[in-house]
Amino acid sequence: VRPKVVICRHLGPAMPSLLERNDIDIVLWPEDRTCERAWLLENVKGAAGVLVLLGDRVNEELLEAAGPKLRVVSTMSVGYEHIDLPLMAKHNIRVGYTPDVLTEAVADISVMLALMAGRNDGVAYSIVKNGGWSSFAWSPFTFCGPQLSATASSPTRTVGFLGFGRIAQATLARLVPFGITHCIYTGSPNSRPDTTRDAALQAKHNLKVLERVDADRLARESDVLFVLTPGGQETYHLVDAAFLKKMKKMSVLVNTSRGSVVDSDALATALREKWIWGAGLDVVEGEPAISTDHPLVKEPQCVMVPHIGSATFQTRLDMATRAIDNLIGGLFGGEMPAEVGK
Ligand code: GLV
Ligand code: GLV
Repeated sequence: VRPKVVICRHLGPAMPSLLERNDIDIVLWPEDRTCERAWLLENVKGAAGVLVLLGDRVNEELLEAAGPKLRVVSTMSVGYEHIDLPLMAKHNIRVGYTPDVLTEAVADISVMLALMAGRNDGVAYSIVKNGGWSSFAWSPFTFCGPQLSATASSPTRTVGFLGFGRIAQATLARLVPFGITHCIYTGSPNSRPDTTRDAALQAKHNLKVLERVDADRLARESDVLFVLTPGGQETYHLVDAAFLKKMKKMSVLVNTSRGSVVDSDALATALREKWIWGAGLDVVEGEPAISTDHPLVKEPQCVMVPHIGSATFQTRLDMATRAIDNLIGGLFGGEMPAEVGK
């Protein structure tokens, strides 16, 4: 019998490659919105594989609904906070994800948010869109904010990275032409410093400083701080009130990883009370249920976009293709292009 696979979302232009296969039985969530839990639990029964998005929790409940045939879970995301990995390991279920292919797109949007948050783009843009430009003739210090790039008069800008994986390094590469010469980062507490890599990066980008530091120094010294660490329990609220209080008054915080890393209430307070200059967010705790009443939406110094970091046509097609390849590889016991933990 052909193995059954459940696909939690139509994968657009990547879909034909899946539909053309005659060696699998496909059950596809038919609507263009997040797959309903009840539908998933009902349809996953007897499935050997399931392709999920980051809003679909892969937990005990799902495993029980699926039954013992389930052998591969493929997520169309680099993050896997929504998947209970120890549980997957216990049941010998392979997990595929989509690193690498989205690195450049997320690095791009990280720089975009740093610029937008620093340069008041949230407020400035909405003034123009609401017809208010005529009240804001060019004036010497209106709409000023901190500058991302170095200048002759202010040559030292320090960028900080909370988490220094692929996306953080790609973001750093984009900032070098901005005149950035100082970079500090924190790594995962379980990882050893990689002095060889750092020496190579420092030489490649001609940096004066590239240093792994503790969270305290990261908070105190960064002019722009990028949160680029995976989510999950280990990184929950690493950016909290105590952390934000240590940051520079003119600093900008950017989060393009997972909302859970930043305490939203603390960040709203930090912006309101001007502990920091601004924030640029692609991810927020509790998304997508973020209304106009949300304390961060109400903060003028917070620029927010709805988790679109990897949303370019090319990257999303690459992610979908990789998710399909992972699914098929895992289903038939073959290679998975990107398997968690391998
Ligand atoms: C997006 O957040 C992803 O994990 O790919
Ligand atoms: C983390 O997800 C990374 O790709 O750096």
